[in-house]
Amino acid sequence: MIIGILKEPDFEKRVALLPIEINNLTKQNINVWIERNAGAKSFAGDDAYTASKAEIKDRKEILEQADLLFCINGIGESEIASLKENAVIFGMFSPLDNIGLIKNFQQKKITCFSLEFVPRTTRAQSMDVLSSMATVSGYKAVLNAAMELPHFFPMFMTAAGTITPAKVLILGAGVAGLQAISTARRLGGVVEAFDVRSAVKEEVQSLGAKFVEVEGAKDDKAAGGYAVEQTEEFKQKQQQAIHLSAIKSDVIICTAQIPGRKAPVLIPASTVAEMKAGSVIVDMAASSGGNCELTKNNETVVSNGVSIIGNSYLSSTIPTDASKMYGKNLMNFLKLIVKEGVLDLNFEDDIVKGTCITHGGEITNERVKALA
Ligand code: NAI
Repeated sequence: MIIGILKEPDFEKRVALLPIEINNLTKQNINVWIERNAGAKSFAGDDAYTASKAEIKDRKEILEQADLLFCINGIGESEIASLKENAVIFGMFSPLDNIGLIKNFQQKKITCFSLEFVPRTTRAQSMDVLSSMATVSGYKAVLNAAMELPHFFPMFMTAAGTITPAKVLILGAGVAGLQAISTARRLGGVVEAFDVRSAVKEEVQSLGAKFVEVEGAKDDKAAGGYAVEQTEEFKQKQQQAIHLSAIKSDVIICTAQIPGRKAPVLIPASTVAEMKAGSVIVDMAASSGGNCELTKNNETVVSNGVSIIGNSYLSSTIPTDASKMYGKNLMNFLKLIVKEGVLDLNFEDDIVKGTCITHGGEITNERVKALA
């Protein structure tokens, strides 16, 4: 069996697998091919891969001959024609937004595993790339805010007087939000957090932050722990509570998302207009519309002296550890489907079934199929 690791597009610094993982594959008599320079931006040179018994190859050879392909951002639609029929590809393909790519995989009889679809269950935790990348992003969002802020984060009592600590508001206390709380606390900020899921209140408090409470949120057990769209009445109450907290804050980190929908707008322009000049908003929900009305994806805009950084792509900015976590998740997933060097696809396994998007000429995922 040949596993091919592809080089990511130019904007990406991560790589799907670092050399440290390759020994586990070669021990099973699997040949590992890595595209030239694939790990360079994660500081894993071709030498490190060859020292781990991987072979350096050109992209064309990998696409045409690998049985299993590892990537993060997917491949070009035009490249699918070169793949071997029945090849298996792993990556984060955003299938709900990339139906054309998925149909191409289907027609070429490629088995596609999209790792954002790994179920959010206890057994699948070690394979959960969304959590890994959210951890990286939540941490980096706070560091970016600290770099931009014209104030210190911690309190200082100095001969020149007392510096008060930065006030930080975190919107959305999922994996990224909780990591943002920890990081802001470690830097010495005073942190408040808000989420529609009251279940996170204890977690927020255990990290030393205050939970901003708004009564009447709709929880939907069928949503598998994810947030659901809220009533208009709740949205208004929530906006008032967030407004009061936001105008006192120096930093706001936005992470609130609803899967498959536009991100909720929690900071309208009218709130930004009343915020303190010099405050910073880092909006990690930017790619799905943003939690701040003024957010522009991949841009920093300044309004009323408030810097609004729209960036949903922060995991790529800590490429070595993000690649390490992604690769580890991928290797854990691989253990479910490769036994002693042989591919063994068991669709009775809920993780294998849940993550598979196309197989044997069919779109196997119902949500994706509904869009085809
Ligand atoms: P996410 O990225 O989908 O959303 C981030 C946060 O935004 C969530 O906590 C959500 O409740 C919140 N949010 C959505 N709308 C909001 C609004 N209008 N106002 C304020 N907050 C709002 O979330 P993530 O981090 O992917 O986690 C989703 C779920 O998956 C959570 O229940 C989490 O506990 C669960 N999970 C389970 C795992 C496991 O059991 N293996 C692993 C990781 C997550």
